[in-house]
Amino acid sequence: MLKYDFSFAFKETLESGLIFDELLETGKSTSTIMEKVNSPEPGFLRILGDDSILDEVKTLEDWLENFENFVVIGIGGSALGNQALHSSLNPLNWNNLSREKRMKKARIFVLDNVDPDMVSSILGELDLKLTVFNVISKSGTTAECMSNYLIARGLLDKLGLAASEHFIFTTDSEKGVLREIADREKIRTLTIPDDVGGRFSVLTSVGLLSALAEGIDIDGLYEGARFGRERYLRDNVKSNPALVNALIHYAYMKKGYNISVMMPYSNRLYTLADWYRQLWAESLGKKFDFNGRIVHTGQTPIKALGAIDQHSQVQLYNEGPKDKVITFIKLEDFGNQLTVPFIHSDVEALSYLNGVELAELLNAELRGTSIALASNGIPNLTITFPQIDAFHVGEFIISYEIQTAIAGSMLRINPYDQPGVELGKKLTYAFMGRRGYEEIRDRYEEKTSWRFEL
Ligand code: PA5
Repeated sequence: MLKYDFSFAFKETLESGLIFDELLETGKSTSTIMEKVNSPEPGFLRILGDDSILDEVKTLEDWLENFENFVVIGIGGSALGNQALHSSLNPLNWNNLSREKRMKKARIFVLDNVDPDMVSSILGELDLKLTVFNVISKSGTTAECMSNYLIARGLLDKLGLAASEHFIFTTDSEKGVLREIADREKIRTLTIPDDVGGRFSVLTSVGLLSALAEGIDIDGLYEGARFGRERYLRDNVKSNPALVNALIHYAYMKKGYNISVMMPYSNRLYTLADWYRQLWAESLGKKFDFNGRIVHTGQTPIKALGAIDQHSQVQLYNEGPKDKVITFIKLEDFGNQLTVPFIHSDVEALSYLNGVELAELLNAELRGTSIALASNGIPNLTITFPQIDAFHVGEFIISYEIQTAIAGSMLRINPYDQPGVELGKKLTYAFMGRRGYEEIRDRYEEKTSWRFEL
């Protein structure tokens, strides 16, 4: 079970800290908040109600064993969760391990960006005969995803490799070109449920297939997520850490703390902060509230990595603007133990390191940074993973999905849409000459005709 330490967010340790009994706004009860979050039940919780997604994904296990490489093609909510599962639940050097050490499971690559250097460097390395591409797009139209699909498809076609053997599409049950192509060409598909939005979809087939391909315990993910669903839907503020965390962030937002930093002290957990960054940003950053009032709300999520960013960001966190709430992610039991050897024991400045476990040093750094921040009046909290495994990662995912829904409800906005990205998408289509977007191109080209270029 994840552990939460909220001490350094409260008055008892911070002069400007919160008062626990005032966490709730007058007139709001925790049961009303939790009821709003869970009725109607959001899709990301509904899917935990049975094993249908797990079962469907598992039917592909034997087929996946044909491949050495599994390439995810997707972006945003259709890629960040895959990356987070990959780097947290398998060794960081997974792709470099031999097939035997990988227990015949696939190496994982994620083509999310359309950076030609990145795409070429990945595709250039792979034996395509031994590669399966999972094209993931809920809308089935996203430009980055579609162009990377076309590039991969072109390479396979050139080699005479059958698309139906090397592609699997994860997409909407009816809409989008991926569905159309799959139907026409008998390409395998998995369906993204209608009621689960991109950034909430890691525990659907979006995240589960690549996880299964690399041997991650997807049942364990669900066990943790289901445990989290019980724990984090409680309406008692004293027994629901997700509720407390959402209320803390909301209360600080109201005081002008517009930045939320997530700082794991574990390289493996770092990509969870990346996943969180999208979830918190895209869900809460909204112009309008439920009543159509302009609110321009949200909290900018930042990711940082301990101890590295102590030497890059922490000066700012301690002495810069008081606008940040910091969440440390601590790991108790690292998979590897590494002890600093007894060398230079006669050198005073080094001898304290002799015989020390690296994990102990890393966690001492976390503790030191957290206390230093608190003594500078900067609110911070620590979430502890006893160890990294599928159960705790599943619990973490659900904890943050529920927290995001709670924060959205407190802010009175819709956390499940993203209208703010539409215009940029349309303009991209327009600049790329897509039919039907001529008018918007002309309108904005005129609007932006003034230039100041050096
Ligand atoms: O959370 C979201 O909805 C977005 O970030 C999407 O995941 C992202 O834009 C990709 O969309 P799609 O899966 O439709 O290609």
